[in-house]
Amino acid sequence: MSLRSELSDLFGQAFAGLGLDPAYGEVMVSQRPELAQYQCNGALAAAKVAQMAPRDLAERVVARVAAEAGDRFADLSIAGPGFINITVTDALVARRVQEMADDLDLGIGEPDAVSEILIDYGGPNMSKALHVGHLRSAIIGECLKRLFRSTGHHVVGDIHIGDWGMPVGQLIVALELRRPDLPYFDPDHTGPYPDEPPVTLDDLSEMYPQIVALAGEDPEIAERARRATLELQNGRPGYVALWRHFHNVSIAGQRKDFEALDVDFDLWFGESTVRDRLAPMVERLVEQGIAVESDGAYVIDVAQPDDKTEIPPLLLTRSDGSYLYTTTDLATLEMRAEAGYDLVLYVVDARQSLHLEQVFRAARKAGIVPPSMVLEHVPFGTVNGPDGKPFKTRAGGVLRLQDLIRLVTEAAERRLADADIAQEYPPEERDRIARQVGIAALKFGDLANHRMSNYVLDLDRFTSFEGKTGPYLQYGAVRMRSILRKAEERDLAPGVVHPPTAPRARDLMLELLELPEVLERAGDLRAPNQVAEYAYDLATVFNRFYETCHILREEDPHRQASWLQLVAITLRTMAVVLEILGIEIPERM
Ligand code: ARG
Repeated sequence: MSLRSELSDLFGQAFAGLGLDPAYGEVMVSQRPELAQYQCNGALAAAKVAQMAPRDLAERVVARVAAEAGDRFADLSIAGPGFINITVTDALVARRVQEMADDLDLGIGEPDAVSEILIDYGGPNMSKALHVGHLRSAIIGECLKRLFRSTGHHVVGDIHIGDWGMPVGQLIVALELRRPDLPYFDPDHTGPYPDEPPVTLDDLSEMYPQIVALAGEDPEIAERARRATLELQNGRPGYVALWRHFHNVSIAGQRKDFEALDVDFDLWFGESTVRDRLAPMVERLVEQGIAVESDGAYVIDVAQPDDKTEIPPLLLTRSDGSYLYTTTDLATLEMRAEAGYDLVLYVVDARQSLHLEQVFRAARKAGIVPPSMVLEHVPFGTVNGPDGKPFKTRAGGVLRLQDLIRLVTEAAERRLADADIAQEYPPEERDRIARQVGIAALKFGDLANHRMSNYVLDLDRFTSFEGKTGPYLQYGAVRMRSILRKAEERDLAPGVVHPPTAPRARDLMLELLELPEVLERAGDLRAPNQVAEYAYDLATVFNRFYETCHILREEDPHRQASWLQLVAITLRTMAVVLEILGIEIPERM
């Protein structure tokens, strides 16, 4: 059990002993570190129920806690209207940090109940080379996956490629406009179809925005795209053959892009994965009276009496019988329910919240998912340019992920040169470090913000080795590694953790002990920024310790071994936290 849960339990028992809810005993990190390390504010909240003055209640709680405390507290006092200030003994801190050192899992432990979690993230549409717009879902989704795994849950990541809707019909038409001679478009062609794909991913990425624009202007093109979508969904052989090519070409390209970001998926499913479920599902929903006809289309009414804004009905099929984004999302939930997940997180742009709300409601109404299965949209804001609007290239286009990674890697190279880091290393190693630093810059630049806030993509700021950045954290971790290496060269090893003699060592130890709570809270709130914040705090507290406690020059061998142990635990903790953030630590820098 972590130190803070131990304290919360102790205070909880005191409240319970007074006939009050033990939840009032929650102990938090003090808001006023100069006065105390921790605080419990429960007496203020409980005073009314207890029909007591808050200070009197706080006194009774403190009396009860003190009776059970053993050697835990250096100070327990009541401040202001009834805050309880708590300072623990250095012996307790040392004991707990030693336990952390001895535990392979750094005290993170197992969850009370292991959840089966599916995270739906990434979600590019087929045919799209990844661009800035795909960044956040990939980075946040990957981080949440790693976070829940680190706290002992079973997590599956599913990319859910958009590969069975109108965009595919549009691409089919786009290619037909360019190459009407291809056998895929000849209704009399009886196959086989060529093995070689007729397009590259670049072609597809170029064709897609063009056809979308064209369909917007020309109703006839729009109509053809709709028909092509329907015919594909009905299994027209030439279109299915073409779809397969599009699919293979885009997955190969997207895989590479995600790999460059160090983002990976357990399932490369897409909308098309559930294509055989669509017709039977729709039929059943119609039969059950859940889907009703409306101008030839089928809709599901999902409004609820207490809705504050109107939630329009979900469009299940178009009037021509074709399926949409909603249809495949519902059928995908049918598949996910069969797989038995407890929790499904959709890491999808905030602008899709209505769509997901409709899908979740329809799935519940139709009994597609069991009541125990939690469905949750984890929304996020946009990546903006310096003008504060969603990021565009100077030419007004979208910035390809590949180009972005190149830009940030170059910026990292310049930073390394300016700081004279890694300049004398072999070129391959220097390149690898630049890439690692660049990706760290990008990911931390994103994850440091609460996911709902929009942020400005500022590569210059993100790649700095100073301030709240990914490279700052990497540099800190590499420094810890190098201290341990130097110690080893002098035959010095980490040893027993002693009670802190220096305030900076104590601060570091208390920060280390926060790890389990941070991970738990970040998971509960689906808030990677809390992990990012912790990584930054830990690196900062460590640097202060390192500046004031001269580890390698320390003369007392016990104190030195204890400090080296603190370096070792801090590095292990940083490794866990950076791994969750998807940031690699270079071997050396
Ligand atoms: N492909 C969608 C898009 O590009 C995102 C998919 C999100 N996931 C989902 N199950 N709807 O907007």
